[in-house]
Amino acid sequence: MTNQEKINELIEKRAEARMGGGEKRIESQHNKGKLTARERILLLLDEGSFEEYDMFVTHRTKSFGMWDQKFLSDGVVTGHGTIDGRLIYVFSQDFTVFGGSLSEMFAQKICKIMDQAMQVGAPVIGLNDSGGARIQEGVRSLAGYAEIFQRNILSSGVIPQISAIFGPCAGGAVYSPALTDFIIMSEKSSYMFVTGPKVVKTVTGEDISVEDLGGANVHSTKSGISHFMVESEEEGLLLIRKMMSYIPSNNLEEPPITETKDPIDRLEDELNELIPENPNKPYDVKDVIHAITDEHEFLEIQRNYAKNIIIGFARFNGMPVGIVANQPDYLAGVLDIDASRKAARFVRFCDAFNIPIITLVDVPGFLPGSAQELGGIIIHGAKLLFAYGEATVPKITITLRKSYGGAHDVMSCKQLRGDLNYAWPSAEIAVMGAKGAVEVLEGKKLREIVDKEERQKFISEKEEEYIENFANPYQAAKYGFIDDIIEPRNTRFRIIRGLKILSTKKDFNPPKKHSNIPL
Ligand code: HXC
Repeated sequence: MTNQEKINELIEKRAEARMGGGEKRIESQHNKGKLTARERILLLLDEGSFEEYDMFVTHRTKSFGMWDQKFLSDGVVTGHGTIDGRLIYVFSQDFTVFGGSLSEMFAQKICKIMDQAMQVGAPVIGLNDSGGARIQEGVRSLAGYAEIFQRNILSSGVIPQISAIFGPCAGGAVYSPALTDFIIMSEKSSYMFVTGPKVVKTVTGEDISVEDLGGANVHSTKSGISHFMVESEEEGLLLIRKMMSYIPSNNLEEPPITETKDPIDRLEDELNELIPENPNKPYDVKDVIHAITDEHEFLEIQRNYAKNIIIGFARFNGMPVGIVANQPDYLAGVLDIDASRKAARFVRFCDAFNIPIITLVDVPGFLPGSAQELGGIIIHGAKLLFAYGEATVPKITITLRKSYGGAHDVMSCKQLRGDLNYAWPSAEIAVMGAKGAVEVLEGKKLREIVDKEERQKFISEKEEEYIENFANPYQAAKYGFIDDIIEPRNTRFRIIRGLKILSTKKDFNPPKKHSNIPL
């Protein structure tokens, strides 16, 4: 073979690999409204930046007539490229080759890029679209999954890991995405479950559709497994690019700073009027978030799950932050099991990757009731408490209105190493609300007053007295638990100045093998 012939051979083999499972299967993939593995990578990464590894890998299985069925790349496209010029590792499962099912060599390819990503400190993005374990490979496939799981675990908290689900993801295969930091699901074509509808029917007799068992909608609203539901794969891939703009490449780097023209001292006069005079009236805390962040931008995470707490990324003077905010507009912003778990995981993500945490508090307490108690609110609430107390990143807390009881402590209070704790004049920081307090404190007297009108008058007087004495920020400020009481319209400036002074903050937890967060 001449040199030119050898080069031609390479070009031909590359072209063959790029065709995956062949034209027909690519057409079938497109007909399902799905992109191919390589099309997805091209949309995800900066143009021309993708370098593919292991294009010529094939499987090593002889049984089931597999020796005659070989496809270059063996069902997964792996390599690296850049997003906004920053190095990213990626694997993209190719459904056109054996349904994207995972073989021993397929797993080895993924492990190779995961290992390199850890060595150089770069994120791993996984694009999932797979029929699960390659049945013909038996236990070698299971071992391959476990090799990936182990790397997911060791990478956790060292490099960011993001999973997009663009097709099937079933059986044990779900556990790799579950071990990563964020999961994105495409609305129409993705599903995730440990056991599918047929097995469910056989074992429990329950009739349930694929969508109701593991579609993007249920995982975005009911289980909370999915952090984002997107209408199209293109939207999902652009979203990953956007997410990366808030996240550092590894746990030793600071988050990327962006230039902004938004003035640091922009006053938001309407914030002074935002809190309703009636403490039981709801308002949308997202109005506060959008008013104070750079360019009014906020990337909300798990938007449709546990809506009583809001989490997401934003920037202040170009510095990425994680925002956690009670939402008075939904269940009065109460803390329950789902809200505690949702916020706790986010706080831990931010802390692992040096992203400061801004907490906006308006919380009436924990949700009472047997459903919550028997569901383990004690342990789940403790997760959020633990996450805040363990976090060593800069923590700025603004109490907007209610901050009652145990929930006050949980929501990044001063004693959980809150660095800057501010309150608006509308804040009510107390053991409980006026109504509950009067019922407890004046119970005996109330039972003695028979006349209804007289009783109501007494209650109103006592409630007023309580509000005057306790339902305000000054009690907490008196003891230094609140560093300052600020005008709402100044909030943006105070956060930016706080972040600046805290940018050199150093805080540590005692040396240990690892903590024992209440799981
Ligand atoms: C080998 C597979 C495969 C698999 C699909 N294919 N799944 N090959 N191993 N697991 C092949 C098909 O034979 C077919 O090959 C091609 O991929 C496309 O599959 P279709 O069935 O034609 O596609 P579709 O109708 O879209 O259905 C997709 C599907 C279905 C729902 C994913 O293929 C399916 O149910 N597959 C089996 C899923 C499964 O049970 N996996 C094992 C789960 S246990 P041709 O040549 O016709 O194109 C597991 C354990 C993991 O994963 C444990 C980890 C710890």
